Amino acid sequence: MNTHRIALIPGDGIGVDVTAATMQVLAAAAARFGFALATETFPWSCQTYLDTGAMMPADGIARLRGFDAIYLGAVGWPETVPDAVSLHGLLLPLRKAFDQYANIRPHRLLKGVEGPLRTEGFDILCIRENTEGEYSGAGGRVHQGRDNEVATETAIFTRKGVERILRFAFDQARARRGHLTSVTKSNAQKYSMVFWDEITREVAADYPDVTVSHMHIDAMAAKMVMAPQDLDVVVASNLFGDILTDLGAAIQGGLGFAASANICPDRSAPSMFEPVHGSAPDIAGRNIANPIAAIWSGAMMLDHLGETAAAAAVLAAVETATGRGIGCRPGAHGTGEITAAVLAALEA
Ligand code: IPM
Ligand code: MN
Repeated sequence: MNTHRIALIPGDGIGVDVTAATMQVLAAAAARFGFALATETFPWSCQTYLDTGAMMPADGIARLRGFDAIYLGAVGWPETVPDAVSLHGLLLPLRKAFDQYANIRPHRLLKGVEGPLRTEGFDILCIRENTEGEYSGAGGRVHQGRDNEVATETAIFTRKGVERILRFAFDQARARRGHLTSVTKSNAQKYSMVFWDEITREVAADYPDVTVSHMHIDAMAAKMVMAPQDLDVVVASNLFGDILTDLGAAIQGGLGFAASANICPDRSAPSMFEPVHGSAPDIAGRNIANPIAAIWSGAMMLDHLGETAAAAAVLAAVETATGRGIGCRPGAHGTGEITAAVLAALEA
């Protein structure tokens, strides 16, 4: 029997609730499809920071490296730890340390879910560069608190980083409907984004079967609302991808439905799976959080681990539940009820 070693980082707030729900579903899938998940839980969170002064131990990265995958709930408890501290202490360093340069976020309406748009439907795969760009961490502040204070935050784009995310996106487009939209702001940002556009054209030469559109981020924001059905694979820089995928979440019914995978494509390190939503401290531990984004992220993890039939069955079970109206509208069903409906569909 195949055993996959999974590091669980439930994190903060509803991250804990939705991780527990997801693991129930994945355990049921493992039993049904004949594989095992050997999980180890790492309770790293804002509480860890309050107790120890760090979000994770100094050897945290080393301890995670040997796992087949990482599943993360959510990070952040801004009342006690500033977000810029907690995120730079856990989530963001993991993405970089394990070279998870491809952040994949699917946006479509699950069966039974009504988004805010009048649309026949859409099926978008956002590919977000996940290790550099506007999140490079290069910058600084001087003369703090004085009139001449300066802050810089430098976006860094490397040929290696841009080319590999574009190749990854072209591969995804080739495997889907054969269309890629590359999102930049090269009319205003004349160095990095023109560079991105040039590399897009270079890489496109290797993919004659994929049609490419170039769009600016502002026009893209409008398009995702006005004509999302025209989009297939979308590729963007770290920050642009971050913003567009919250918009993608909104048009698919909300953050409760937005799944994500941080992929290290060459598998030299573990990939990490997490819902797009945050820790939502106001509803933590109250059996209110919608676990669907988290469960879908779990299905993406199974798929990455090669358990493709189980992954498809989990997603089908989610849609059986939502198709019956369970988990479709905020507040109508609790975390436990939605999880039970998915489990029942999976075991049927
Ligand atoms: C996301 C989140 C993170 C990001 C935050 C929490 C740092 O918004 O995964 O989209 O910006 O990457
Ligand atoms: Mn985000």
